[in-house]
Amino acid sequence: MRKPIIAGNWKMYKTISQAIELANGLKRAFYDLDAEAIDIVLCPVFTALSEVNEVISGSPMQLGAQDVFWQQEGAFTGEVSPLMLKDVGCKYVIIGHSERRQYFGETNQTVNKKVKAALQNGLIPIMCVGETLKERQEEKTFEVLKDHIQNGLTGLTAQEVSDIVIAYEPVWAIGTGKNATSQQAQEAHQFIRKLLTEMFNKEIANNIRIQYGGSVKPDNIEEIMQQPDVDGALVGGASLKVDSFSDIVIRAMKVKVKK
Ligand code: PGA
Repeated sequence: MRKPIIAGNWKMYKTISQAIELANGLKRAFYDLDAEAIDIVLCPVFTALSEVNEVISGSPMQLGAQDVFWQQEGAFTGEVSPLMLKDVGCKYVIIGHSERRQYFGETNQTVNKKVKAALQNGLIPIMCVGETLKERQEEKTFEVLKDHIQNGLTGLTAQEVSDIVIAYEPVWAIGTGKNATSQQAQEAHQFIRKLLTEMFNKEIANNIRIQYGGSVKPDNIEEIMQQPDVDGALVGGASLKVDSFSDIVIRAMKVKVKK
């Protein structure tokens, strides 16, 4: 059984005090939640990582960053290394988000370097993949997913990839309020799992968790989570408020966690 995983991608929102407030609110909302049943990950901006880590320690929530560089240290102005993310308390790191691919020149090659560096430092990468609207309309969705996954994971052994999380995030669904249908999500997730079987093996493919991301809200999470190959969600906008994010987590648990 794959453990469900809901991650909040706070993007470039929240000052330190606002981040502390949100984390505290979530801590109260999840005070009696079973940390063994589900993974909940908060990914604030770099500047708030330390404070958020302090707030969530002893709670069922875990810390993640939104990006990482692939070197341990050096003359790389503006970058943050995997070693430093570990140092501040991160367990997860989002890699290759479409906003980074679109605005900051992220490529499959840089994603691959970052995934390797994260794993070498004991961080769990949440590797984002997904097609644009144009690519979907041109029926290139599977081609794009294959390109992102094969090149993003190139050079990794089955053992190395066994811990990673993949986030299927159709670009046209991110921040648009237009989520993929549960069928579209399942179809993409199933394709990804089949591809992972071919690249590695069935056991690894069956163990890797695949999140859906793109306009996930309390009112669509249950339908999406009901799909057999959907193991969680990467949530942007709706992760910025205590009520909506906690509602998403509780509803996701209702679907996936059998009592
Ligand atoms: P959204 O963002 O939930 O606001 O659509 C998802 C993401 O970018 O990870």
